[in-house]
Amino acid sequence: MGLTIGVVGATGAVGRKMQEVLAERKLPIDKLRLFASEKSAGTTLEFMGKEVTVELLTEEVMKDKFDYLLFSAGGGISEKYAPIAAEAGNIVIDNSSQWRMTEGIPLVVPEVNAHVLKGYRGIIANPNCSTIQMVVALAPLHRKYGIKRIVVSTYQAVSGSGHKAIDELEKQIADDSYPNKVYTRKIAKNCIPHIDVFNDNGFTKEELKMVYETQKILESNTIEVNATTVRIPVFFGHSESVYVEFNEKPELDEVYQLLQQAAGVVVMDNPKENQYPTPLDIQNTDDTYVGRIRKDLFNDKALSFWVVADNLRKGAATNAVQIIEAIENL
Ligand code: A2P
Repeated sequence: MGLTIGVVGATGAVGRKMQEVLAERKLPIDKLRLFASEKSAGTTLEFMGKEVTVELLTEEVMKDKFDYLLFSAGGGISEKYAPIAAEAGNIVIDNSSQWRMTEGIPLVVPEVNAHVLKGYRGIIANPNCSTIQMVVALAPLHRKYGIKRIVVSTYQAVSGSGHKAIDELEKQIADDSYPNKVYTRKIAKNCIPHIDVFNDNGFTKEELKMVYETQKILESNTIEVNATTVRIPVFFGHSESVYVEFNEKPELDEVYQLLQQAAGVVVMDNPKENQYPTPLDIQNTDDTYVGRIRKDLFNDKALSFWVVADNLRKGAATNAVQIIEAIENL
């Protein structure tokens, strides 16, 4: 018997990417069901050459039998509907931030901590896009040298804010006077050091996600993370400048080796030939790309590097589908 899979938020930027990734990978899918709001219920989307009608999301449909339900319709929808689906015996992979820090809910990047899925059924959280690509690159180094402190700045694409933000950037590029609706400032020709809401401590919620999700995935609450998250006028692909201090001194040759051997990592690092990853270079790929690897000039236990991944794929849809694959292969 093949799998029955549902996508909640099927018409959104991540929901559509989830269908694209599901179609590309070799999962034996018998039935795909798509769910969205009243606005799109009844419309059709194509999946592997067939038209699939988008269904209205209701409590009743979430009680149907699914092997996997992929959610990407925002935190409020996940808060309400994911427990109903899980209660009915379904495995939910939730891309929102709603359940990520809840104790007992696995927060999973398959290359890093797939072991937490063993024997588990229920809601599984897909981490924040910026966290995913950072921990994919850091995990092999953490295992070897132990991370003490991370200082990261992000350069995040507008697709991370959904299809309305993609539209806003397109329109502002074409027309300077097009107003900002999704963001607090114009995003075209600009960069905005503000993603999600501000916390009382001066950090944004997006920055705090990078702190606490990293600690949960790497299973160490002593890792110190200082993040600054920034929206830039790029459509697809998040970039990050990462500075990391270890407990043990890293050797550069060994660092390259560890990263080259790590699952899901591609080292693209030859500055003399202008080789380093950029969002356009890696768009539509599933790996995490690392370049500009260098030792700190003043602290021999510290490194800097540059990491880029497709935020809708590895940062969201691909990671969710890899969680299904990890469970199927357990
Ligand atoms: P719809 O297109 O019907 O509004 P994005 O992250 O790109 O903004 O997309 C959000 C996704 O979440 C869309 O598929 C959207 O469907 C869906 N969504 C938003 N609100 C609801 C809701 N109340 N019930 C079901 N789906 C919703």
